Amino acid sequence: MKKFIIDQQVEDIELPENLKLNTFLQEFHTVCPHPECSFGFYGFAFGQSPFPVPKPVQDALIKNANKGTYAGVPGIPELRETISQYNKRNFGIEIDSKRVYVGPGTKELIFNLLQVLHGTVILPTPAWLGYLPQIRLLKKNFHMLPARPIGKITPNDLEHLVLRLHDRQRILILNNPNNPTGLVYSQLELEEITDVCRKFEILVISDEIYAQTTYDINKFVSMGRIYPEGTFVTNGLSKSHAAGGYRLGYVIFPQHTYELRQHFKKILATEYTATSTPIQHAAIAGFQESTEMNEYFEITRSIHHIMGDYTYQALNKIEGVKTTRPEATFYLLANFNAFSDYFLANKISNSQKFSESIMQHPYHTALVGGDSLVLERTDFSARIAFVDYDGERAMKNYVDNPPRTASDRIEFVKNNAPKIVDGIAMIQRYLNDIKSKTNSKITRRGIDIEEVIPP
Ligand SMILES: Cc1ncc(COP(=O)(O)O)c(C=O)c1O
Repeated sequence: MKKFIIDQQVEDIELPENLKLNTFLQEFHTVCPHPECSFGFYGFAFGQSPFPVPKPVQDALIKNANKGTYAGVPGIPELRETISQYNKRNFGIEIDSKRVYVGPGTKELIFNLLQVLHGTVILPTPAWLGYLPQIRLLKKNFHMLPARPIGKITPNDLEHLVLRLHDRQRILILNNPNNPTGLVYSQLELEEITDVCRKFEILVISDEIYAQTTYDINKFVSMGRIYPEGTFVTNGLSKSHAAGGYRLGYVIFPQHTYELRQHFKKILATEYTATSTPIQHAAIAGFQESTEMNEYFEITRSIHHIMGDYTYQALNKIEGVKTTRPEATFYLLANFNAFSDYFLANKISNSQKFSESIMQHPYHTALVGGDSLVLERTDFSARIAFVDYDGERAMKNYVDNPPRTASDRIEFVKNNAPKIVDGIAMIQRYLNDIKSKTNSKITRRGIDIEEVIPP
C-alpha cells in the first residue's frame, strides 16, 4: 500500500475538540448495549442556535440562487455597505465599508488574520475551542492569559504578561460576549484593557460573533468603538442569525489599514477567491434593518435569556456546583471542582474523563469539558450550552403567549425545553452517584483511597 507522508505541522495538531466529541458520541451510540441508548443525549455540548434561519434571509437566498458569478475578493459592495450600516445602527461604530471584508465564516477570517499578522498571540482562557488548533497549525508563538477571578481578563494581568513578551507585535484574542462563560465586558473594562493595549501596542482580534445575543442589548459595547485604531472586529451570521451552515462572516479592519488590507486580500484570493455570491445576497437581508429582523433578534435573545437564567439557577441549586451567570450567548461555564476528590477517587482523573463518564449509560449527558476549553486538564469545569430544544416551536409559543412573570418563565422552559430540565436533573443524579460510590471516608489528607468502592 502506498505510504503518504504528512506535513509535520499537520501531524502535530489534533482533531478539533468539537469534531472529537461528535465522533465519540456516534461511536458510543453504536456500541451502547442498553435499549435506553436509542434516546440519544441531553445535548449540552453543541454550540448551535436552535432557531430557524430568519425568513428574510431564506427568501433572499432563494431569490438570488441564480447569481453564479464570482464575487470580488472582499465581498459584494452592497453587503459591505449594509454591514457598515448595521454596525453603525447597532453598535455605534462609524466605518467606511472599505474596511469590511467578507469571508466564509469568522473562523476562516480569524485564521486569515493570524496568517497575515506577525506576532505572539495572547489567548485568554477559558477559550472557545476553535482558536488553539489554528494557532498551532500556523506555528505561532502564544501565551495563555487566565481570565480570573470571574471569567474576564484584567488589565493588570495583561500588562504583567506583555512585559514578559519580547516580540515586535502582540495580538490579543478577545472574545466578547464570551464562549464559554456567557459574560460580557463592560465599557469601563474595555477601556481599561485598551489603555494597556495602547501603552504596549497590542493588536486586538475582537471576536464579537455573539454580540447580537446580549440579553440586554444596551450592555454590549464593541471593542471597535473603544479602540478603533487597533481592533479587528469579527462577526457574522452563524449565531445571531442561526445560520452557521451558511458560512458567512466579516471582519472590520482598524482605521488606516489600506496597505494591510491589500496583503489580506492576497491571502483571501489565494485561499478561496471569494465567499459564495448567493449567500452574500442572503446576508444583506439579515443585516438590513427590517421589522422582521428586529423582531427575530428580540424574540431569540429573550428566549436565550430565559433558558440561560433557568440553567444558571437550576445548576447553582446543586450543592457544590457554581456557574457563571450568562448575560449573552447560549452558554455558561459550570465549575464542578468541589467534586474533584470524588472524581479522583473514581478514577476520573481529568476533565476529559469527566465528560466521557457523564456521557455513559445511564446519564447520557454531553457537555464540553475543561481541557477542550484550554483549561488545565485537571480543572473540572465544563461548558453547558442551553440549546437542546425545538427553537421554531419555542419562538411560536413565545409570540402566542409571552412569559411575563418569573413563574411564567419557568413554565416556558418546562414546556419548551424539557430536555434542559431533565438534563440538569441528570447532572445532579450523576454527581450524587459519584459521591455515594465514593463511600466517602474523609481523612485529613482528603478521601482515603483504600475505602473507595471501585466504579
Ligand atoms: C467564539 C466563537 N467564535 C467563532 C465561531 C465560529 O463562527 P463562524 O461560524 O462564523 O465561523 C464560534 C462558533 O462556535 C464561536 O463560538
